[in-house]
Amino acid sequence: MTRYPDVANWLLVLTLAWAPIRSLGLVIQPYEHRLDNEQLVLGQHRPESPSTAYRSQAPYAPPFPSRPGNRPSGFIALGDSYSAGIGTGLFNGTEDDCRHGHNAYPMLVQEDLSRSLDGGDGPTFQFLSCTGSTVNDMLAGAEHSQIDEFNTTATADFALLSIGGNDLGFFEIMNSCIFRFYSFYSGTCESALRHADEQMASSDFEHRLRLVIMEILDRVRWEKRPWFTITVTGYARFFNADTEECDDYSFGMWWRGPKLKRELRQRMNDMVVDVNNKIRRSVDAINAAFAEPRVLFVDYDDAFEGHRFCEPGVVEPDYARNETWFFLVGGLDNTETPVLGATDALLPLDSPLVDPVNCLGPAQKSGDWGEMALCMMATAASKDAELRKADGRVVAENSMWYVPTYYGKTFHPRSLGHMAMRDRIYKAWRENNIPTLG
Ligand SMILES: *[C@@H]1O[C@H](CO)[C@@H](O)[C@H](O)[C@H]1NC(C)=O
Ligand SMILES: *[C@@H]1O[C@H](CO)[C@@H](O)[C@H](O)[C@H]1NC(C)=O
Ligand SMILES: *[C@@H]1O[C@H](CO)[C@@H](O)[C@H](O)[C@H]1NC(C)=O
Repeated sequence: MTRYPDVANWLLVLTLAWAPIRSLGLVIQPYEHRLDNEQLVLGQHRPESPSTAYRSQAPYAPPFPSRPGNRPSGFIALGDSYSAGIGTGLFNGTEDDCRHGHNAYPMLVQEDLSRSLDGGDGPTFQFLSCTGSTVNDMLAGAEHSQIDEFNTTATADFALLSIGGNDLGFFEIMNSCIFRFYSFYSGTCESALRHADEQMASSDFEHRLRLVIMEILDRVRWEKRPWFTITVTGYARFFNADTEECDDYSFGMWWRGPKLKRELRQRMNDMVVDVNNKIRRSVDAINAAFAEPRVLFVDYDDAFEGHRFCEPGVVEPDYARNETWFFLVGGLDNTETPVLGATDALLPLDSPLVDPVNCLGPAQKSGDWGEMALCMMATAASKDAELRKADGRVVAENSMWYVPTYYGKTFHPRSLGHMAMRDRIYKAWRENNIPTLG
């Protein structure tokens, strides 16, 4: 499924540019050097930035899963906003409803895979991930079921999956404990955290995780594709929970927002660790039922060490710190978007204004917490004309205020985070000896 002809075109350009190297017949490319090639092809001359430095440090060349003895032919990406890559650059300056980002880790994998193939048809890539998706949204029979959308005629050797965060009431926690988009109308932090704890404590969450993974395996007819591997990624802890100075800082959207106390940071971190453990257990349970492991869980949390909010000496919110790998509300990405040059600045400014009276139903239905945040901000502002944003701006003067991604990307990985996720996936593939061309 080619959703992005523009991307397909530049991938083609890059593939052609790699011809001399590809003639060596190697599948594994020295992709450390690719930025030089991109600059050559595109005639761009960018100074060294942290992003190029980071890419060049990637320690592992990717061994892509494939039918043994064959070249990898394609893959699918499924799941939520963490795999959709919300906020990480736009395709041609526009954004689809699923908020696919240009530097989403599945896109980065697709780039490397395309480059590694020695001519012929490029790999098929189905980017089905969608911001706001819960486990139930993915399952067969659901309204926008990604599993039903999966075109099994197109070949796929592996799947990338990120799912679970939205099932735990993630937005409620962000809203009531951190941002309070809805001002004093936002629910209490305590009840949102309790709700997440309850979800986590029930066996239902793990049961549904196993169900969604099994449905993917069934849909791909695993018995006929024994090499097919699902790589599941978890989440990363958001905070350094040890720094004292952060106790006094706030990310609140309005004047006098909630403080980022150590106890709150620790509690939110614990939630992430819990969800990762649940995913790991579900994956182990499925693998135990097969002769060979089918599913690989990649816990990349430790790669985010030093790159979380509230690191030592950082005064939050610090919009200038590129070494923080999560987005702040309305914050920019921490790399230049390669090739297309599309950054957040190109977000469509003609988004319709939000109607505070009628926005809630559709926003809840979408599951997209950027839309929820936008609706809640509009509602709070309409109820109380005196409300001002924490930084003193009157919200209506800022057109970005009306773009859901402005909020929705918050607490999601920025591009450098996606690069780290990609590298952890490659490392896991290598260490687990998953079937490859070999
Ligand atoms: C991308 O933008 C260019 C220039 O505005 C336009 O000609 C082209 O049709 C766009 N492509 C897509 C896929 O939207
Ligand atoms: C499914 O994939 C096949 C093979 O790539 C393609 O020919 C077909 O058009 C696709 N179907 C849909 C509905 O996209
Ligand atoms: C952060 O990264 C952006 C994008 O690469 C860059 O334009 C900006 O100068 C960087 N900021 C700092 C403080 O290094």
